[in-house]
Amino acid sequence: MIINTDLEQKGNLFPSKIVAYRKDVDTLYFTTENDVVLEMTILRDSVLRFRYTTTGTFENDFSYAITKHASKGYNFLEIEEEAESYKITTSKLICHIKKENLQVLIFDAKDHKLINEDELGFHWEESYEYGGNIVKMSKSSHDGESYYGLGDKPVDLNLKGKRFENWVTDSYAFGKDTDPIYKAIPFYTGLKDKKAYGIFFDNSFRSYFDFCQERRNVTSFWAQGGEMNYYFIYGPQMEDVVANYTDLTGKPHQLPPLWALGFHQCKWSYYPESTVKEVTSKFRELKIPCDAIYLDIDYMDGFRCFTWDKNHFPDPKRMVKELADDGFKTVVIIDPGIKIDMEYTVFKEALDKDYFCKRADGPYMKGKVWPGECYFPDFTNAKVRDWWSDLFRDLVENIGVRGVWNDMNEPAVMEVPNKTFPDDVRHEYDGNRCSHRKAHNVYGMQMARATYQGVKKFAYPKRPFVITRAAYSGTQRYCSTWTGDNVATWEHLWIANIQAQRMAMSGFSFAGSDIGGFAEQPSGELFTRWIQLGIFHPFFRVHSSGDHGNQEPWAFDEDVTNIVRKWIELRYQLLPYLYTSFWKYVEEGIPMLKSLVLFDQEDVHTHYRSDEFIFGDHMLVCPILEPNARGRRMFIPRGEWFNFWTDQIVSGGKEMWVDADIETIPVFVKAGAIIPKFPVQQYVGEIDIDEVKLEVYFKNGKESSILFDDAHDGYDYKKGRYSLRTFKLTGKSDELIIQQHKEGKFDAGYQKFKIEFHGLPFTITKVQIDNEEISLNDLKMNGNNSMIIDKGFTELHLFGK
Ligand code: GLC
Repeated sequence: MIINTDLEQKGNLFPSKIVAYRKDVDTLYFTTENDVVLEMTILRDSVLRFRYTTTGTFENDFSYAITKHASKGYNFLEIEEEAESYKITTSKLICHIKKENLQVLIFDAKDHKLINEDELGFHWEESYEYGGNIVKMSKSSHDGESYYGLGDKPVDLNLKGKRFENWVTDSYAFGKDTDPIYKAIPFYTGLKDKKAYGIFFDNSFRSYFDFCQERRNVTSFWAQGGEMNYYFIYGPQMEDVVANYTDLTGKPHQLPPLWALGFHQCKWSYYPESTVKEVTSKFRELKIPCDAIYLDIDYMDGFRCFTWDKNHFPDPKRMVKELADDGFKTVVIIDPGIKIDMEYTVFKEALDKDYFCKRADGPYMKGKVWPGECYFPDFTNAKVRDWWSDLFRDLVENIGVRGVWNDMNEPAVMEVPNKTFPDDVRHEYDGNRCSHRKAHNVYGMQMARATYQGVKKFAYPKRPFVITRAAYSGTQRYCSTWTGDNVATWEHLWIANIQAQRMAMSGFSFAGSDIGGFAEQPSGELFTRWIQLGIFHPFFRVHSSGDHGNQEPWAFDEDVTNIVRKWIELRYQLLPYLYTSFWKYVEEGIPMLKSLVLFDQEDVHTHYRSDEFIFGDHMLVCPILEPNARGRRMFIPRGEWFNFWTDQIVSGGKEMWVDADIETIPVFVKAGAIIPKFPVQQYVGEIDIDEVKLEVYFKNGKESSILFDDAHDGYDYKKGRYSLRTFKLTGKSDELIIQQHKEGKFDAGYQKFKIEFHGLPFTITKVQIDNEEISLNDLKMNGNNSMIIDKGFTELHLFGK
């Protein structure tokens, strides 16, 4: 196994000088004397692809990560041959390829400043054991350069000084710094001189990234096989880097149904049916909103996927319907291991069709998981995916299950030292047959894809909901994810915060942790603090292994129940805000959580901050991560912010103490923001919403906010039946103007807005709606604080003194 890149140079080989160059539309080929070819494709003005071969010819160009919907096309392209290098210019970048050794230097086309440069650049070692190469790349790193991304790594946000491995791994009770864990997302953003660029190394073999750990001024990445094949994405804004990476690897194919953004309750396991019902009834009795209830492996007959334990669940269809009548969507687990049992039709079918993975010399890949000895479908085969997707007909179409949870898809194998398949297992890899060395990191992704395909088909015209544990880049197109088997400790609350932020900056916003911790039992205080963070994570689910105690909101004491209820209610109030930010993610690839560095990269104080983040566009959140806290120090980014609880205004750009007893955590709203709120519901769709609250946070200046809405499920929004409101706020010392622009063909049920003002610096004396003066009495004003407007408006104008 190769660990070091350039310290072990004895086997390293390097490109020699360029002897030939040719161009084919948007792709350039540089060939060296020793048969190395660099294929460089200009995908967009700011997105370049670099691909190398050492044999003169390339492998079949195939990637599970890159979506066919990725944007393509550039505005400008010029190639010049200079004395020492080839110079490629787009409207955003200037790239030099050195004739002497194929090294690459990339500059900003506007100010001609260096963004990124090869150190050794591409080099390789021949892999005597497997054939092919161990492919390597090293880049110079500059003092003050920072690195972010890489999916679910449970370490400080800034990756500088560390080395990582990408190999998806079942990691029960992982801890801070455990590496690798469940996901392989070989994409990072570098930040140099306040300008951001991204590198996506699209290679599914076991890969490594070293951010100046091995050598102070070198960042390198390498993989145990395949091609050196990476995309360079320029910002200079970090948000654009992430959005472009998400465009390349795919935005979610559709919005989730709105209920999927509600609260989910899960445990390993709720059974029999009466226990499930007790839990759901208790939610309704205690008036704690909840939308989804999960069935873990014990609902099955002997852990056989697509079966039911009829003793515990005699009539699943009736149960699922009764739960649905009470507003609960049922989500069930499905694992990849199929029990070896000739009486079991799923097993028989896959065996007859030859759909299971095999070892190199012919036998099936046999491994132990929950059901005992299992075989495993080869999800990298399109036929297997189709077959798998059809297995969901009964669960989804007939029984009415609304979501499917894919677990153990690393794939996890028990009682073997490497916890997964051996390297020699064969995969179809959609026509590019290969061993598990190449397919391992995408196996879980392809399982989630097949599941998604099935749930989508049978849930139609409703939207699918799928959740996966393992993932490779691009998995965000199909489903949501959780961070795996964490532990009920304060450190894990810190990890949960980091992971959700890191996943968002790695293109995968729809993520959350097992709230309260999967292993062990949280104190009521830890559970409360975790819920307070969890309401700001796109995927919001309590899950626990259950053998240590209960983890429902009422399992602690009444104070906990009451505080937790209040917070879950807040989540439901914020649904339109969250849904809008989901829409921006789906449309534009904008991350739903923005770490402070992503929010304000110009301010170097943000480069090493990990705890605080921006939820959506306008809310600043900082969890409490210690017991017995009455507040904490935190960094408030630049700008004016309202304390969400007290309306006190603070100017950011500094660290400060913020009070937060057990009832609250620090939350701030950006001045000028308009935050939409729904009334509290016990589940999505419980009530017809006829009034939306707009919380208006005054600013002396301008700010704009958006509100997206649609039918909350189905695909009509794709045909234009959505409503997108843009609110433009302009505040002066004695005036406030809110202009509303609405587009889309959807009429939300509500006409009424209750507008609440925060921080108005004047007393309202006159109100005009669309240039017409309205009597203050008609607006049901509550002092200076709120008013009700019961018809559409394009301009609300307040005058005051
Ligand atoms: C794995 C999952 C966990 C699940 C358990 C039983 O440990 O990560 O969420 O509850 O398996 O299915």
